Amino acid sequence: MKNYVLTPGPVPVPEFVMLEMAKPIIHHRTEEFEEIFSKATQGLKKVFMTKEEVLILASSGTGAMDAAICNTLSKGDKALVVNGGKFGERWLKICKAYGVDTEEIKVEWGKSVDPSLIKEIIKKDSSIKAILVQASETSTGAEHPIKEIAKLTKNRDDIILIVDGITAVGAFPVEFDKWGIDILIGGSQKAFMMPPGLAFIVLSEKAWEFNKKSNLPKFYLDLNQAHKNSLKKTSPWTPAVTLVIGLNAVLEYFNKIGLDNLFKRHSILSQATTEGFEAIGLENFAKGCTSTALSVIKAPKDIDANLIVKGLKEKYGMIVAGGQDQAKGKIFRITHMGYVDKGDIIAVVAGVEGILCELGYNFKSGAGVARTTQILDKL
Ligand SMILES: Cc1ncc(COP(=O)(O)O)c(C=O)c1O
Repeated sequence: MKNYVLTPGPVPVPEFVMLEMAKPIIHHRTEEFEEIFSKATQGLKKVFMTKEEVLILASSGTGAMDAAICNTLSKGDKALVVNGGKFGERWLKICKAYGVDTEEIKVEWGKSVDPSLIKEIIKKDSSIKAILVQASETSTGAEHPIKEIAKLTKNRDDIILIVDGITAVGAFPVEFDKWGIDILIGGSQKAFMMPPGLAFIVLSEKAWEFNKKSNLPKFYLDLNQAHKNSLKKTSPWTPAVTLVIGLNAVLEYFNKIGLDNLFKRHSILSQATTEGFEAIGLENFAKGCTSTALSVIKAPKDIDANLIVKGLKEKYGMIVAGGQDQAKGKIFRITHMGYVDKGDIIAVVAGVEGILCELGYNFKSGAGVARTTQILDKL
């Protein structure tokens, strides 16, 4: 059976990227690799929409989240954490591990944070040094209003905005320089349509000022070291040579098609999925604040979403993600990032229809596929 990986990370990798990475390994302390490394960091600036140096780390996305904290904050500092899902929770766990105090804004899963709440809190409490938030909360499919939040911190030099853009950068616009974000993070196995293993992170001048005062322990993820080396076209430790080579192939492709077209593609795939499922009575979990990087769909009331996930895998070889914690059994999640195309989206909507028929859900069979196909004509 053919496998379709349709999870919101890892995502399918295009053949041209795999072929680049299949070439013989080269040594990293060579001019040849320095040129490759530098081309990648330059190319990343476009996707991160910044003039600052974007650092490439050999880690998964969580490594860059960890680095963002331990490179800018100090023991006993206070951070305001937007917690609207599994990855918001991760910010809390990282802060706890480093002895950073937190104030939490609990956001109902599937909703996005209200910036006025943040405004009130940071106005009252001048001890808050950082705001930690996701641009796209992958466990719920909600997009948080980063541009609005950045307006609250942009003109204050005592507070930084740290954004986990792991399922946002490359998926939809997150304008680092223009909006005035202080730290932005991306990951290779998401919209960069690569295998897992690279994380990307960029810091504003303000964040580098925070770095000077930060006293938390750091070694492998010391961003100051990474920055100094990156300006010399290299990295402090052995880089993930093969992945960096693959990254250049992706960045060249992004250049060729244009970022706007890439973003548009994700939005059309998202709309086609949303409306297809709506046509058979299924709703988006994050209605009204849906990230276009993925679709998070609520299972019908009396049907366990895990049976849909299991059925898709066993019957059609389609791998989608289920829900975690409080959303377990309630939702299923499908990527729009990576090497997914119209055919994949039509197939997964048809597959879900097939499984729902078996599970006894009452709907007009074929209505979802019909709507999805109609929207996909825009692509
Ligand atoms: C929004 C978000 N943040 C953080 C992570 C963690 O990244 P990683 O699993 O690469 O460490 C993920 C991964 O799914 C994510 O989607």
